[in-house]
Amino acid sequence: MRFETKAIHSGADTDAETGAIAPPIHLSTTFERRAEDGTPAHGFSYIRDGNPTQVRLEEALAAIDSASHALAFASGMAAVTCLLQSLPAGSHLILADDCYYGVRALAGEYLPRWGVACDLISMDDPEAVRAAVRPATRAIWCETPSNPLMNIVDVAALAKIAHDAGAILIADVTFATPALQRPIEQGADVVMHSTTKYLGGHSDVQGGSLAFARRNALLDTIEHSRKITGGVASPFNSWLILRGIRSLAARMRVHCENAMALARALEAHPRVEAVHYPGLEAHPGHAIAARQMSAFGGMLSFNVRGGRAEALAVTAKTKIFTRATSLGGVESLIEHRHSSEGPGSSTAENLLRVSAGLEHSGDLVEDLMAALG
Ligand SMILES: Cc1ncc(COP(=O)(O)O)c(C=O)c1O
Repeated sequence: MRFETKAIHSGADTDAETGAIAPPIHLSTTFERRAEDGTPAHGFSYIRDGNPTQVRLEEALAAIDSASHALAFASGMAAVTCLLQSLPAGSHLILADDCYYGVRALAGEYLPRWGVACDLISMDDPEAVRAAVRPATRAIWCETPSNPLMNIVDVAALAKIAHDAGAILIADVTFATPALQRPIEQGADVVMHSTTKYLGGHSDVQGGSLAFARRNALLDTIEHSRKITGGVASPFNSWLILRGIRSLAARMRVHCENAMALARALEAHPRVEAVHYPGLEAHPGHAIAARQMSAFGGMLSFNVRGGRAEALAVTAKTKIFTRATSLGGVESLIEHRHSSEGPGSSTAENLLRVSAGLEHSGDLVEDLMAALG
């Protein structure tokens, strides 16, 4: 079955009780047990362990990521935390040096407490990653395209390096979504998404997911840890994300078209110093992106000539783009990334990040060009 069909039909069984096509939202926190032996009568026990709406979501998440199993979390960071907590004390993690700043913050603040060593490495050159492998390396964490610089890494090459070292490859493909890239098909062991973004798709729900190439001890550990630490997705959020997944493929087509139109217009603008979009031939990761993604995504960033003031002035003038962080909704957003990341940000002060929404591309290009002046 092809992606578009799987996204619509997985976790979508007609409700057995009522015949409802739209799935019910089961808000119950607790479930009945059998009189004879006290075991759960319908497989569910307590909401933190699992609930029927979340199970539907997890079926869909596994199907669209070509995974064996998937777990839904309360946020992307809850998923990241559970995953990194599964690394045994004494192990070593290799993290992309330009990964999402929240992941970097988590690694910096918490991994030392958990006894896990971590190196931040540029992953443009897979050989640099190989050179960073130590006997204790248990995981390599990549993000592609990266946030906010849109760097691309070669997932198949990194998977090989991880496996040669007896480690796993984890890929955060929140920007690409499973509609454009499925790292498990390229050798990754675990795929992470902030489902708050494109999978939810309407800027109204928070969530995260981990999809696993196979059921193994790692998945068992993480499932157990989610149950104990409690970062599970709520039934209502599960339902909203499930609904978002149904239209993901169609939405991504327009996000990609609009981002490409914006990237081309920005590339030609004299007030723009650099455009970061993997769909542009000049992007250093273009060839790899063309090989491992089916299209280049809805996110881009660019540097405005000048500095912080010149960049902020552009965001002050847009009429359609709203100044806000986050991404993947139907509305276009523009963000001065350095301000959002706050103190300690390594993002250039003249960089703006754009989440191309689903408006008409002509309106978006005109708005941004007018703001640039
Ligand atoms: C690439 C990436 N990974 C992870 C996260 C964290 O996800 P959440 O905000 O849902 O916790 C984000 C959030 O922006 C992200 O962009």
